[in-house]
Amino acid sequence: MRVLGIETTCDETAAAIVLRRGDGSGAILANEVRSQINEHVAFGGVVPEIAARAHVEVLDTLIERALATATIGLDRIDGIAVSAGPGLIGGVLVGLTAAKALALVTGKPLIAVNHLEAHALTPRLTDGIAFPYLLLLVSGGHTQLVAVEGVGQYRRIGTTIDDALGEAFDKVAKMLGLPYPGGPEVEAAAERGNPERFDLPRPLLGRAEPDFSLSGLKTAVRQQAEAIAPLQPGDIPDLCASFQAAVVDMLVDRVRAGIRKFRADIGQPNALVVAGGVAANRAIRRALQRFSLEAGVKLVAPPPELCTDNGAMVAWAGIERLSLGLVDDLESPARARWPLDGRAVPALGAGRLGAKA
Ligand code: KG4
Ligand code: ZN
Repeated sequence: MRVLGIETTCDETAAAIVLRRGDGSGAILANEVRSQINEHVAFGGVVPEIAARAHVEVLDTLIERALATATIGLDRIDGIAVSAGPGLIGGVLVGLTAAKALALVTGKPLIAVNHLEAHALTPRLTDGIAFPYLLLLVSGGHTQLVAVEGVGQYRRIGTTIDDALGEAFDKVAKMLGLPYPGGPEVEAAAERGNPERFDLPRPLLGRAEPDFSLSGLKTAVRQQAEAIAPLQPGDIPDLCASFQAAVVDMLVDRVRAGIRKFRADIGQPNALVVAGGVAANRAIRRALQRFSLEAGVKLVAPPPELCTDNGAMVAWAGIERLSLGLVDDLESPARARWPLDGRAVPALGAGRLGAKA
């Protein structure tokens, strides 16, 4: 089975072709991604209108390139998968409209994928992980712990009650004058800094419910920075290192609570999976690796290019759904908001509205 996957929910335009073999294993035949960071950098964040226009300009070229790289024509594709949300509505419409047009002219099934589901199923493409497993999704728009029990079976067991983790990295970077996106900048500065110089809070540490809170930590960084203003060159690495150390302590503690809840409610998870852009952070990966050994749970961290937004994850989610006969009609809506676990109570301010997931 071969599926084309299209991704346009935020600031990456992507098209990919993924194959599932008879034994269930997957192979990426093409994975074309174009980042729009250069278009948005001057604004310090993603501008929705600019994003939508940029998707329109390159999507058809990326689809053609993906087909050429995979050396197949549309006639040999079994389905057209697309992220139909959640995300910036203009961008989602660009991808969804293109996918519908292709489905219509080729007569192939349309699979309208939830972008978060695509992140959630990626470890099955990369590592063949069996259900159930615990997913830590940490990106610019989301910070969640999700029990993945099957295709379409997602139980949110923890969430941020205010900012997303990537958002907190980006805001800390901005207040220290570092460029957007801030995560990699903060990580690089932190490597040169003293993590013990500033005493910062670890919100919700020790709580049984595996939720997250970032806004108090972000405010504490601002207050400490203001208290020593004007900042000297050596202060920024120390602030970044102290912030990152607090994030790592908090994240490990919250994941520990998540594993405990998973075991109580569902049983032993087959893996702890970390995905989303923040999963590229090496200090976080190292800490989760240490924790997974201690907890006796295998850690799966897909390669960074499959952790951040891409078309291969959408194509794979399309394959998983298509194999179960889950296809969508051409009336399928674009959705700015689309929770993975429809039963979960919406958390106040959990990530930015319509933000990247
Ligand atoms: O998954 P992604 O590419 O887009 C979203 O779906 O949000 O994640 C982007 C987020 C940004 O907030 C970025 O600052 C953060 O991931 N990020 C990092 C690192 N690399 C990217 N945060 C911390 N450390 C990093 N190395
Ligand atoms: Zn995403």
